[in-house]
Amino acid sequence: MFIYGHCLNVLDLTAAALLLFTLAAVIRRHLALRHIPGPFLASLTDIWLLCVMRFGDYRQTTASLAARYPNSKLIRYGPHRVLFSDQHAIPLVYGTTKPFPKAASYNTVSPYIPGRGVVSTLLSSRDETQISAIKRHIAHVFSTTAVLEFEHHIDDSITQLLAALASAGPQVNLQHDDTPLASRTAAVADTSRGGQIRFAHWNNWLAAPYLESLVFKNPLLAHFARPELITTIAAKRVVERTEKGGAAFAHADLLDRFFQAQQKDPELFSNPRIVALALAVVHGGTETTAHSLTILFYLLLRHPKSLARVQQEIGEATFSRFPPPYTEAANQLPYLEACIKEAQRVQPLQSGPTEREVPVGGVAIAGTFLPGGTVVSLNKAALQLDRSVFDPHDRYDVHEFLPERWLDGIDAAQASLMNRTNFAFSHGKRVCLGVHLAWAEMLKVTASLLMRFEVQLVDPGCRLEVKRGMTAIVTGRGLPVLLRERV
Ligand code: HEM
Repeated sequence: MFIYGHCLNVLDLTAAALLLFTLAAVIRRHLALRHIPGPFLASLTDIWLLCVMRFGDYRQTTASLAARYPNSKLIRYGPHRVLFSDQHAIPLVYGTTKPFPKAASYNTVSPYIPGRGVVSTLLSSRDETQISAIKRHIAHVFSTTAVLEFEHHIDDSITQLLAALASAGPQVNLQHDDTPLASRTAAVADTSRGGQIRFAHWNNWLAAPYLESLVFKNPLLAHFARPELITTIAAKRVVERTEKGGAAFAHADLLDRFFQAQQKDPELFSNPRIVALALAVVHGGTETTAHSLTILFYLLLRHPKSLARVQQEIGEATFSRFPPPYTEAANQLPYLEACIKEAQRVQPLQSGPTEREVPVGGVAIAGTFLPGGTVVSLNKAALQLDRSVFDPHDRYDVHEFLPERWLDGIDAAQASLMNRTNFAFSHGKRVCLGVHLAWAEMLKVTASLLMRFEVQLVDPGCRLEVKRGMTAIVTGRGLPVLLRERV
């Protein structure tokens, strides 16, 4: 009886000590950044962010937070997490020289390859030295010049897409029909589902990277781990290409160039690294481009005046061939380019947090000191709706889709500020590597489709259903349209 009572006391004491310890840790976390306003629950625990990412709408939430704290350019969204909406701090955090390193949340997008462990990708790597070394070999592969070399692949895909639409018409679903286009240009087909699974994983776990690692990347559980669908697809493609001769098999695509880099630096470009590179390209380049295009078409079809101006611009352009060459389209279709930028501003593809870690020693952002280790992220929703940037002359409501704002009466400095603040492809050293490819695809696909077909919505009053997490994924009915071939 005495021993039983004694054990209970020890257990009680241990539980009380644990409780006190947890409470002290929570209070300490809360006090660390108490000078920054934000939701109280977020100041105590990352569960607040986890719930927003899983069950809420991050873009809507962060836009509402900016409205709730109009006088603060800093808002706390986690015990160690701070959103900033000061565009002057963008070069400091996301710049070209010595940008802040990516935060631990990016670990959740590193794939786990059974037998190899966790392999960081171009997107997920937090090691800036390693990223610089990799990019020294492959950055040119993503340049505008390289895109022109790959352009015939884009043309082939557009031709196939248009033929598929013509035979499926007159009623087609643009969302479903256009996905294979992006997949094919990345030289890895059938990736849509794999890409979405991966984006969902990132979305669901980024708030708790250490827990994600414990559950999904635990060596003790390695026996039960299965590679993700998209990792399997990428690995299969790399094996196929290796069997065809690797670098010797000149297909003039990205994979080709990765194998050429392997010849120059076999250690850095090991086979698992090439799988990770292929995976980053497929993951970063397929669903992103496809859903961006769907959103663009939706906005054009819902804004007939803008659509008419695009059609007029295309009608007046002279192209040397069809599909229109990228350089000719870029020179002759400034309004269409403005439409793409405006679509990315009002309905951005990547709307989740783009987290970076404040270096040791801390830093001042918007005049407030943030200690080293604090995770910071641009409040994109707040800045994309900032009137001082996107409606400085009180002419174009920032909540409306009005591509004119990118063209009419703005000088080079204003245009540069708008581009930087729009942040559609991020900024600086870790800017989207596929930006030129994505831009060429979006411009060429939109122009080609509108040249070949008259397009209208099946339901003129429809609302596009979009699930907004880390990225915007078009869901529900997609985008049903009626196509009529132009004669
Ligand atoms: C409209 C289409 C696209 C959009 C809106 C987009 C957007 C972005 C954004 C915002 C980032 C920064 C992510 C972050 O730091 O969290 C990013 C990174 C990246 N994107 Fe894209 N992307 C698109 C298409 C592509 C394409 C076509 C490719 C490849 C062919 C690609 C490859 C990458 C890679 C490799 C990164 C990581 C770069 C780094 O961290 O250094 N993206 N993209």
